[in-house]
Amino acid sequence: MTDVSLLRFQTHPDRPEEPGTEILIGVGSRKALCSELARAFPEAPFALLVDEQVLAAWRPYVEGLTTSPLTMLALPAGEEAKNTESWVYNQRALVRAGLPRKGFLVGIGGGATGDLCAFSAATYHRGIGVALLPTSLLAMVDAALGGKCGLNLPEGKNLVGTFHDARLLIVDPAFLRTLPPEEFLSGMGEVLKYAIGFSTDLFGLLENHSDLGPESDQDLLSSIVGRCLRIKASVVESDPMETRGGRILLNLGHTTAHALETWAARHGQLLSHGLAVGLGLRVALIEAHHRKLISDLDLERCVLLLERFRMPSTPQEVLADLPTPGIGDLESLIARDKKRGAREVSIILPTERGSCEAKSSTPQAFAARILGTLFSS
Ligand SMILES: NC(=O)c1ccc[n+]([C@@H]2O[C@H](COP(=O)([O-])OP(=O)(O)OC[C@H]3O[C@@H](n4cnc5c(N)ncnc54)[C@H](O)[C@@H]3O)[C@@H](O)[C@H]2O)c1
Repeated sequence: MTDVSLLRFQTHPDRPEEPGTEILIGVGSRKALCSELARAFPEAPFALLVDEQVLAAWRPYVEGLTTSPLTMLALPAGEEAKNTESWVYNQRALVRAGLPRKGFLVGIGGGATGDLCAFSAATYHRGIGVALLPTSLLAMVDAALGGKCGLNLPEGKNLVGTFHDARLLIVDPAFLRTLPPEEFLSGMGEVLKYAIGFSTDLFGLLENHSDLGPESDQDLLSSIVGRCLRIKASVVESDPMETRGGRILLNLGHTTAHALETWAARHGQLLSHGLAVGLGLRVALIEAHHRKLISDLDLERCVLLLERFRMPSTPQEVLADLPTPGIGDLESLIARDKKRGAREVSIILPTERGSCEAKSSTPQAFAARILGTLFSS
């Protein structure tokens, strides 16, 4: 095992009785899974939930684990697993396998697997422990940490959910070797968010490595993922349950992203989350520049970074048949977003390269900004 660095932090510093999340990041850290489980959950039985596409790519690793699970459940790949039917199916399988109250779950897969697995753990016997091995870039830098978990309903995404921190996260960039390139790009949207809104250090690192991909040097990937996780950890620590306002900063680029993803879905098209966040970052940068929050030079460097990482400058660049929304369409999509009040919307804007703040706008004004930035020819 090379270069395993262990970062430990407490997600609830004001509630020391809670164990918080321990993170092990590094190339080869997956090989420490069994010993880490034995330390975090001494002598407790566990069930393994694995994304089936990840299982196909990593079968020798999963089957070679030296500590056997009570049962292993292969989940439909990605988002297909994140629904109530799958949740019921898995809960019943856990009962039949005899997983006790002191048992725990281990999830191996992307953000969808992590969400289902943590939600299953939160609800099984009124709550058992969970450990996650995120295998997509998005899950490594974002989804696996912070306790949010949930399921989709036919009415919409993430409508059922709760907070349930993973006790242990093992983050091994080796998994990225088998991640499809478009999924890597999707994770890059979140990485760029951290660089533009939270860290000049990460920004500089990305400027020097714009050819980054699943096959890149794993120590480099590890240090990029580690920087993102440290940022997310510090934001989550400041606002663990999303009640104090700090965590809203993680929505940089997301008001636009959610509106565009919904608009595309309404027209039967899929806009990847990462590309939607990339477009949202562009809108936030233009709005920030318009408000004189960032300099010409910072705007130029940030937009150049987005372009070097192949983030589109308009949605129609990747979805040629997507109709242009009317201002009213965008306004109602923004106002429906659950994170905002009726008349004012909170928007997160870069205040210089590597930092951001919550500001307010009206849905109408922000819809006009999105239209003007992303849809004008
Ligand atoms: N809980 C949170 O805080 C949070 C935050 C952000 C996103 N999310 C959720 O995360 C999900 C998106 O996560 P995602 O982008 O990881 O998508 P995902 O879990 O759907 O995975 C994307 C695809 O990549 C495949 N895959 C993953 N890792 C692989 C690997 N190493 N090798 C080969 N294939 C691999 C999966 O099978 C799937 O087909 C959404 O459901 C979203 O709502 C949750």
